[in-house]
Amino acid sequence: MQALVLTKHQKTGFDTIALTDIAQPHPTVNQVLVRIKAAAFNPADLHIISGEMKPMSPNKVPFVLGVDGAGIVEAIGTAVRDFKVGDEVMFYTGLVWSGTVAEYLAVEASACAKKPSNWSFEQAAAAALGLLCAHLALARAQVQRGQRILVHGGGGAVGAAAIMLAHQKGVIVDTTANATDTDYLYSLGAKTVFDYKTQALNSLPQAHYDMVLDGMGGDTFLQSLPLIKKGGSIASLKVMTELGDMERMGMKVPGIFKLLMPLIFRKFTRAAAKAGIKLYGIATYQDGKTLAAVTHLAEQTAYLPRIDKAFALSEAKAALEYFAKGKPRGKVVVSIR
Ligand SMILES: NC(=O)c1ccc[n+]([C@@H]2O[C@H](COP(=O)([O-])OP(=O)(O)OC[C@H]3O[C@@H](n4cnc5c(N)ncnc54)[C@H](OP(=O)(O)O)[C@@H]3O)[C@@H](O)[C@H]2O)c1
Repeated sequence: MQALVLTKHQKTGFDTIALTDIAQPHPTVNQVLVRIKAAAFNPADLHIISGEMKPMSPNKVPFVLGVDGAGIVEAIGTAVRDFKVGDEVMFYTGLVWSGTVAEYLAVEASACAKKPSNWSFEQAAAAALGLLCAHLALARAQVQRGQRILVHGGGGAVGAAAIMLAHQKGVIVDTTANATDTDYLYSLGAKTVFDYKTQALNSLPQAHYDMVLDGMGGDTFLQSLPLIKKGGSIASLKVMTELGDMERMGMKVPGIFKLLMPLIFRKFTRAAAKAGIKLYGIATYQDGKTLAAVTHLAEQTAYLPRIDKAFALSEAKAALEYFAKGKPRGKVVVSIR
């Protein structure tokens, strides 16, 4: 079968990535073999390629890229009960068990959810990680009906899913975003859209939000703290404080990293503590049951995963290069026929 394979980690450029013929995988007892119909790229793929995950990941090169996918179950492991041959499924593999940019993938059945019948395979692949991550952030921070939250990066996969899920729950959602996404974000239920390029965070209402969802980190994280009510919370996709989530993903977090992690993120944990704000560091792990529940919620709304551009499998490397150049308006997907 053909697959987009990484042979060596590389900080810049994609010379060590190529569409390659490799053996078709076989499902183990708890896996399903999926004939992949679509895969989507995520910022996480660039971190995987650069080798940032290498010290913690049992997945050693060469391996197939891609963590979001959708397709048709072609075979099941002997212990699989929730899926049968012919089911249309979608999944996020976690950052350790990648491999969706390929004709076939053997994936843990516990990572899979049934694909909504009114979503294309491309839309399902485009949605998986964004939906799971947004749900996890809102759930960890225990966001409640009637609260007011601010979502940074509303036009992105995570931000858009968070706006939709929070609005669906009766939460008042403001967002910072690229102004070109304004109409889309109002259609998902955003109350106010702030243009991140022209509206500085210190011009936004102070001590106003019960929770901020921050996918940017750095100064955005620090400048968000005064916007949050005392006792409120910030869910960060960049400040990694949850070792449990990383281990659930299959990462083997070395002891030295466990010691260093509090130091690496000290600036942020201290600033949040000083401001009286609870900090939840989010590392999204694969979870098919939650993905099924969140996808079911999403289906009741006007939300449809946004696709910027679809490429054929033969153009998978060009798709990755296009994605890495940045600024797509929606996901970059690979369609596999
Ligand atoms: N920890 C986790 O589990 C986890 C999971 C998923 C994603 N992430 C991280 O979360 C972030 C978002 O992921 P994603 O998949 O949603 O990314 P994405 O689809 O690339 O979206 C990012 C969005 O943020 C906007 N943006 C850029 N700078 C901004 C700023 N200063 N203020 C407000 N909005 C800004 C971008 O607009 P432009 O088009 O103008 O750039 C874009 O619409 C990424 O950094 C990703 O690595 C973490």
